[in-house]
Amino acid sequence: MTADPLAAPAPASSPVPAPPRRRTPVPGAAPEAPDARRTEDRAHIARLYREHLSSGRSVLGTVLGGMLETASEGAWVFTEDGRAYLDFGGYGVFILGHRHPHVTAAVHRQVDTHPLAGRVFLEPVAARAAEALAARTPAGLDHVHFVNSGAEATEAGLKLARAHGHTALVSTTGGYHGKTLGALSATANPKYQQPFQPLLPDSTAIPYGDPAALAAVLARLGRRACVIVEPVQGEGGVRIPPPGHLTEVSRLCRAHGAFLIVDEIQTGLGRLGSWWGVDTEDARPDVLLVGKGLSGGVVPVAAMVATAAAYHPFSRDPYLHTSTFAASPIACAAALAAVEALDREDVVGRAQALGERLLTGVRAVCGPYAGGLVHDVRGRGLLIGLECTEEQAVGELILELVGHGVLVNHSLNATRVLRLTPPAILGEDEVRLFLDALTEALRTVAARLGRTVTPH
Ligand SMILES: Cc1ncc(COP(=O)(O)O)c(C=O)c1O
Repeated sequence: MTADPLAAPAPASSPVPAPPRRRTPVPGAAPEAPDARRTEDRAHIARLYREHLSSGRSVLGTVLGGMLETASEGAWVFTEDGRAYLDFGGYGVFILGHRHPHVTAAVHRQVDTHPLAGRVFLEPVAARAAEALAARTPAGLDHVHFVNSGAEATEAGLKLARAHGHTALVSTTGGYHGKTLGALSATANPKYQQPFQPLLPDSTAIPYGDPAALAAVLARLGRRACVIVEPVQGEGGVRIPPPGHLTEVSRLCRAHGAFLIVDEIQTGLGRLGSWWGVDTEDARPDVLLVGKGLSGGVVPVAAMVATAAAYHPFSRDPYLHTSTFAASPIACAAALAAVEALDREDVVGRAQALGERLLTGVRAVCGPYAGGLVHDVRGRGLLIGLECTEEQAVGELILELVGHGVLVNHSLNATRVLRLTPPAILGEDEVRLFLDALTEALRTVAARLGRTVTPH
């Protein structure tokens, strides 16, 4: 196990301290992770997927090269054949990279002492993790309900709203809040909703970033409304609303007595170059949803964080909304260590500086393809979207980038947008490696699809 660099009190740091120096793996070269040497039978694993997990996933894995991911460290994922892949994807989870040493050390300790609680006595790790998270959430958001996934955090928020009589759900088109039945009612994408109708009754989706549409729907619903919104739509294709959007959403909710849930599952914990998307706005949500990076890249955990007034029903009756594994010591040990690492390593400052560097670099690399293959490049912090002119280009770019040792994601609710969510621990070597890979991938795909290149 790698030594925990945060075991001792952190020294006073400069605004953006240099990232911890690991030797940069070379894509295609032998991995540094020792257990990645084990060779798995690819065809056998693909068959097991087909027979027991998902035939579609089996096909997709084969199309992407059939490799098996068997190890990870920092910004890198290693496959069974000894190759290293720079992870600019991970669906937004790995802001701290994979297996952050402070988090893995805390989780190892917890496994060796008390991983799951009997739930009769009070459990100290959950209490400390809640305190640490509440200390970083915006003022007034102090009450924490830990869960095991983002969708469960959404469910908890929706149920809390209902406990106060806010039964009419208002979401935004392109918004993504998870796929359990309640959360799916707010994930306004017909592709995911249609097979499972009817979902929650009294649900409305309004255009994202449109305060006039919100004002109109709130005038109709009044205090029955529960509004759920992301500061920046991640799965919606990195859609960035104009400054002041959340401030206006919050003002309208207050004016109409509506309940406001801000979903920071993808945008929170430094991803946007601030602790939270709401930090740059004058917004007062009743509930903030947290997930992804809270795992520290080690153990799944998410949370619903609420004001005292909103949380009252859950606080008074601890059995009103429960789940056996929620707030487990092992998950809370990861969450506590993740929040500590984010804080002490100034991940937020790093995400901001690195985000600017990457956005500038990606824009420069995409410049010659503007209009031909690339429609737009946009981002905030380390959430960057590369919108292509056609859907096919996204798949082709993902494949090409894999060929160059880089992993990226598509966007679930925006098929033309390639999404970059790299960790905040990248060094300059890794940034260059990514930009070189993107340059090559764009060149190949533009040539294959016969797209024009504008010389610079
Ligand atoms: C903003 C947002 N909310 C909720 C979710 C659902 O989280 P999970 O996939 O952990 O259920 C996601 C996942 O991508 C998300 O981006």
